[in-house]
Amino acid sequence: MENQHVLPHRPRRLRQSPAHRGLVRETRLSAENLIYPVFLCGGAGQKQPIATLPGQFRWSADRLVETCADLMTLGIHTVNLFGQSTEKDSRGSSALDPDGLVPRAVRALKAALPDLCVQTDVALDPYTAHGHDGVLIDGQIDNDASLDVLARMAVLHAEAGADWVAPSDMMDGRVGVIRRALDTAGHTRTCILAYSAKYASCFYGPFRGALDAAPLQGPPDKKTYQMDPANREEALREIELDIQEGADAVMVKPAGMYLDVVHAVKQRVHVPVAAYQVSGEYAMIHAAAEKGWIDLPAAMLESVLCIRRAGADMILTYFAPELARTLNESVSR
Ligand code: PBG
Repeated sequence: MENQHVLPHRPRRLRQSPAHRGLVRETRLSAENLIYPVFLCGGAGQKQPIATLPGQFRWSADRLVETCADLMTLGIHTVNLFGQSTEKDSRGSSALDPDGLVPRAVRALKAALPDLCVQTDVALDPYTAHGHDGVLIDGQIDNDASLDVLARMAVLHAEAGADWVAPSDMMDGRVGVIRRALDTAGHTRTCILAYSAKYASCFYGPFRGALDAAPLQGPPDKKTYQMDPANREEALREIELDIQEGADAVMVKPAGMYLDVVHAVKQRVHVPVAAYQVSGEYAMIHAAAEKGWIDLPAAMLESVLCIRRAGADMILTYFAPELARTLNESVSR
């Protein structure tokens, strides 16, 4: 029978079976691309559920070691540590305690799992009573006073064995100051993952619940240091500055609503690009799934795949373990 429609191009031809689709798939997601953000608490034997982040926990260092060993069997080799400090003061002094939560956990992780790649968050908000990422002086977040503290914090983490430090504070010039401080102290191999284009986003809400860290004094929000969600050119400027100052990789945060920024950055730079699927992105997907409005595994996979398609080389996501499990299953099928 003759077909009256002779079409030179039928894009559906390449979609007809899983094999066809696999051959032409443009973006691949692998556990190697993933970084798992984890929350630390004090004490021992602790695994505290986080109300605002279903399926996520605050771990004491001993339990975190066990969890990370499991992660490595799933093919996830990198974690990013956030400490929940109960000793908060106006200057965030507990951030500089060599026996503080984060340095102790880094030492424990590197001793038990030397091949685990450990990144640490460098910012003051979990440690300051006012909840800001920098030092509060006369009602303002003082840029240059913050730099010194952040650099000391980074060196402390490197001394404990951190492979990467990840400044998330958005102070001007901190990448350069941290690089110099690290090199001067002999930590030439410690990488810097710079939160370069970090927006003042409402999607950090569930994270602030997890760490008990929201602005309480001084400016009511973080808009004098985190970026305006309206801006893209400015993101490129921030990224360029951080590269000049010595960032090994640059980050866009949040990820899902900022894919144009991820894409623009990837096109422009020649360092690895990271994107952070933040707590609000994760919590929204969970909430919709709980209501039965969305399929959780499918939404997890699609949301992260699209961040990768936009150009992210590495993706920080709370879905990391679940996602790795799903990816491993689909490989063996
Ligand atoms: C603060 C910090 C935040 C996140 C990472 N580091 C919150 C903030 O800037 O207020 C957010 C992460 C998330 O929402 O998952 N230094």
